[in-house]
Amino acid sequence: MSDKAVLVTGGAGYIGSHTVIELLNANQNVVIIDNLTNSSYEAVRRIEKLTEKKVTFYKVDILDKKAMLEVFKRHDIWAVIHFAGLKAVGESTRIPLDYYHNNITGTILLLEAMKESNVHNIVFSSSATVYGDPAIIPIPETLPTGATNPYGRTKQFIEHIIRDLCTAENNWNAALLRYFNPAGAHPSGILGENPLGVPNNLMPYLSQVAIGKRECLSVFGEDYDTPDGTCVRDYINVIDLAKGHLAALTKMREPNVGCAEYNLGTGHGNTVLEMIHAFSKAVGRDLKYKIVARRPGDVRNLTANPEKANKELNWKCEKTLEETCESLWNWQSKNPNGLEDCPGDAPAESIICYL
Ligand code: NAD
Ligand code: UFG
Repeated sequence: MSDKAVLVTGGAGYIGSHTVIELLNANQNVVIIDNLTNSSYEAVRRIEKLTEKKVTFYKVDILDKKAMLEVFKRHDIWAVIHFAGLKAVGESTRIPLDYYHNNITGTILLLEAMKESNVHNIVFSSSATVYGDPAIIPIPETLPTGATNPYGRTKQFIEHIIRDLCTAENNWNAALLRYFNPAGAHPSGILGENPLGVPNNLMPYLSQVAIGKRECLSVFGEDYDTPDGTCVRDYINVIDLAKGHLAALTKMREPNVGCAEYNLGTGHGNTVLEMIHAFSKAVGRDLKYKIVARRPGDVRNLTANPEKANKELNWKCEKTLEETCESLWNWQSKNPNGLEDCPGDAPAESIICYL
């Protein structure tokens, strides 16, 4: 057991909460900061229930540098896993300044607080969206980036910022993890994705159709150059994704790691229709869908070449698509309203130090 702690920003969110479970199961000490704008304190309670371990939680905004400095002062932190950010592509086109401010300014303030606190190891949640419409499938990390929306550009710019920092100051180490499409839930059915409002993403929308909260899934386009005309994505189980973060942290314990990008995906693509059929099988009945026009900004195919992460991080996806769909249905059927019905918000400590 390491006495030092890992600071997880955005640790009450979907991927963050599943990663915290894996960290606790690996006997790491964890401190979470989250402003709970897109999550609920109930997720933290459930992490504690599942792991039977205590988590230190602060309701802190990454735009509040003084509050973050206070957290670094209170805890002996050796690395940060940085999930906190806004993530809805469509919303980012409507309120780009909010996205640039929250994601980019927030990250700069976090990096400054880390530097001032002598913490130089960071694992960053990047995204396959940085590849834009990629020329090569499966996508290698060496492909030039070219995000096509404000959300994606925040990821691309943050990657540049972290890379520049690692070049300027060689005591920094960074893993820029480019996630493909996270899906599924904790196999217990106790924790999963908790979308607020109408889900933007395919799998949470489909699971709300299955539970009866939405009537019908709209499939965006059937005229792409793919086996059945619908878009192809690389759906990575959230537990495999969470374990990728542990692998990245392990790598950081090696000397002279520097900064590296890694694709976290399965290396296997599925069409939208294939996903509907796989999820329908897990649910045990057909789910209603209709074909509609293409969604602006969607690209034909995003499938990872995960060989670099397989080799350098000694990590690979282990879950099957069936397991992913079953875990999602298990979570959705046990929690029809996500975490909405759960009592009260954070009894946790809030540190608010805005100037
Ligand atoms: P999420 O919204 O469930 O989690 C993000 C968490 O960050 C939330 O709990 C939210 O309350 C918190 N947060 C947002 N702004 C904050 C701020 N200023 N200060 C403190 N906390 C703040 O999202 P997720 O799906 O778990 O994604 C985690 C990270 O992974 C995000 O950076 C996202 O962009 C990235 N990512 C997600 C996907 C995906 O499809 N889910 C794909 C690629 C990359
Ligand atoms: N889709 C539908 N109907 C829906 C929702 C989605 O047909 O109601 C289709 C989309 O057109 C796309 C596929 O399902 O072809 C996947 O769409 P998602 O919205 O689930 O995911 P995206 O690939 O568009 O984007 C997601 C995250 C991004 C992240 C990216 C990484 O939203 O933040 O995966 O690949 F960057």
